[in-house]
Amino acid sequence: MSKPKLFLTRQIPDAAIKRLEQTFNVKVRRAEAPISQDELLREVREADALLCQLSDKIDAEVINAAPKLRAIATYAVGTNNIDSKTAAARGIPVCNTPDVLTEATADLTWALMLAVMRRIVEGDKMVRAGDFSGWDPTSFLGVDVFGKTLGIIGMGRIGGAVARRAAGFKMPVLYHNRKPNAEAERTLGAHYATLPELLAQSDIVALNCPLTPETRGMIRAEQLALMKPTAFLVNAARGEVVDEAALVDALKTKRIAGAGLDVFEKEPEVHPGLLTLQNVVLAPHIGTSTVETRTAMGMLAAENLIAVFEGRTPPSRVN
Ligand code: GLV
Ligand code: GLV
Repeated sequence: MSKPKLFLTRQIPDAAIKRLEQTFNVKVRRAEAPISQDELLREVREADALLCQLSDKIDAEVINAAPKLRAIATYAVGTNNIDSKTAAARGIPVCNTPDVLTEATADLTWALMLAVMRRIVEGDKMVRAGDFSGWDPTSFLGVDVFGKTLGIIGMGRIGGAVARRAAGFKMPVLYHNRKPNAEAERTLGAHYATLPELLAQSDIVALNCPLTPETRGMIRAEQLALMKPTAFLVNAARGEVVDEAALVDALKTKRIAGAGLDVFEKEPEVHPGLLTLQNVVLAPHIGTSTVETRTAMGMLAAENLIAVFEGRTPPSRVN
């Protein structure tokens, strides 16, 4: 019997592709750029399984164009790009890669926080430009991270891992979540706050929530206005959680002190206003981008698809 056909929209680590090849006839799209909707519609026509990326739009049109499709695995934790309901109506499991990417994403949240508050990127640019003229008692004054109040929006696995790291920095932790998280309160000493309370009281506001209809555009001018003028915003979640134009405005007018961003509202476009500001650190959506984590994500995505085709329950089904 011939193997079922798997279409992979982008190259993922080899170990995962090798694992998939044991079960599937794998077609890997080798291009560097995201797949176009036309190509996607064409490629899914014959596919029994699909392994997609967070930048691929797997909407009802794509799912309906794939009459043989029996499983969708995304190489990400966020599934906001997939119409999971339409898939479920056809009995197609949608699977993601939670847990394995939690620590890397929490590390990146911290990297952004430390980088913007201690002005690492600005300093790096100055040193490279040959402008470092020696230790200076008053230049590159940042602000202490240690001891500051950290407000985490989205106390799931990633938010919890960000909070865990705060213990070493002796930071009080506030959190806002769709529902209170008793476990985080008990084990991490985090305190629940309403969104306005969290925004008003935090020195750093970290976004670690999924993109959902409730969180889309959650941080707009009105919310930014509640933040302390000394506070920083860090987004390692999804760009669409923040109104980017309002953020640019708040940063330009020093309504808030700075921002560390790994994600953007209209990726890969970045608001031009962000590019000229010194008080922001911009990363190219690399929250999960470590050798270990990307390999683990690949293996989990593979395991999800293989489980479906072997009649087992996939380890991380979302629909
Ligand atoms: C990354 O953004 C992910 O959702 O895994
Ligand atoms: C992601 O895995 C989360 O639940 O925060």
